[in-house]
Amino acid sequence: MAVPLLDVNAQNHPLAEEMEEAFRRVLHGGQFIMGPDVGEFERECAAFTGVPGNLGVSSGTDAILLALMALGIGPGDEVIVPAFTFFATAGCVTRTGATPVFCDVEESSFNIDPVQAAALVTERTRAIIPVHLFGQMADMNAIMAIADRHGLYVIEDAAQAFGASFKGRPAGSIGHFGCFSFFPSKNLGALGDAGLLCSRDAALTERARILRVHGMEPKYFHQEVGANFRLDSLQAAFLRVKLRHCRTWTAARQANAARYTDLLSQPTAGAEARRELILPTAGPDTVHIWNQYTLRLPGRGRRDALRTWLQSRGIGCEIYYPLPLDRQPCYRSIPVSAPLPAAHRLADEVLSIPVYPELMASQQEEVATAVTEWLSQQACSP
Ligand SMILES: Cc1ncc(COP(=O)(O)O)c(C=O)c1O
Repeated sequence: MAVPLLDVNAQNHPLAEEMEEAFRRVLHGGQFIMGPDVGEFERECAAFTGVPGNLGVSSGTDAILLALMALGIGPGDEVIVPAFTFFATAGCVTRTGATPVFCDVEESSFNIDPVQAAALVTERTRAIIPVHLFGQMADMNAIMAIADRHGLYVIEDAAQAFGASFKGRPAGSIGHFGCFSFFPSKNLGALGDAGLLCSRDAALTERARILRVHGMEPKYFHQEVGANFRLDSLQAAFLRVKLRHCRTWTAARQANAARYTDLLSQPTAGAEARRELILPTAGPDTVHIWNQYTLRLPGRGRRDALRTWLQSRGIGCEIYYPLPLDRQPCYRSIPVSAPLPAAHRLADEVLSIPVYPELMASQQEEVATAVTEWLSQQACSP
């Protein structure tokens, strides 16, 4: 039986009636831009972000760009970002005219290394963007301590971490801004592009609210240059339906992650080979929402060989991410300020396997069996 990496239909089809009702509400209401569903969705998100200042936006990428613009970051500024993340984290910095400064990550969490981040601060540094990669928050105490010491802003790239927390504090509520993506593969996925920007700071929220509509306040008077970062009413209406199920889905992902860890720790594969399979872990201070369950296979070519093996058996898997930011063609001209060994190693070793909420136990067993069979073969081969 084929096991896809993600099955959006399994999640959305059971909600078809509610979704169609949401569609009809927007269709007949006729307010397709900034309609009532956008405001309602923003209010309902407070239960997840822990702050009242939530702004629906066009995508996770636009949430990051809007945060940077609201903080006035631009040419001549430096922004510290992890080298191992999705491109948007750094791409938005470049789009403001500022320079991304690549920081290494911790192998255990895949998240920004606060020790190196502190060492990368210069007199031009204005902000740090910790990314809560794969659904687990970065060490926000350490990041906020660096920011406080040097007077920096912190923008949480929580694109993959809607509903995650660190020491009881929700993702997005600790830094000056939190940015979420509702790309369909996320724990809360829209039926298209969508995102959210949140802030615990009322003045910053207000500034971002105005920049979201071309810096317009009042209507047709533009104090500064913003852009169109609005969330569609239709996506907000769909997201409101799905938000009601988000905690249940995340609990299912957590159960799936625990099941994989159990299955893949069994002593079925050769001990030697198993030692070389590194399973993801959740730190003691975090509620991990498992947007991805990401294996590591150290050793030249081993990750790619496992990927080919899984694909040949119809099992979906993906490399998030094969190239660290400093090695992206568009960033080759940016001098690297510090060595990035962990980011480089992870790009060679990671492989994410299906962990979506609707995944059945039998499908997980199939995935785990395929992985352990491959490991056993490796152990037997000379
Ligand atoms: C870490 C990270 N940052 C930013 C983004 C950008 O979000 P979007 O695709 O909604 O623009 C993503 C989306 O995949 C992401 O994973």
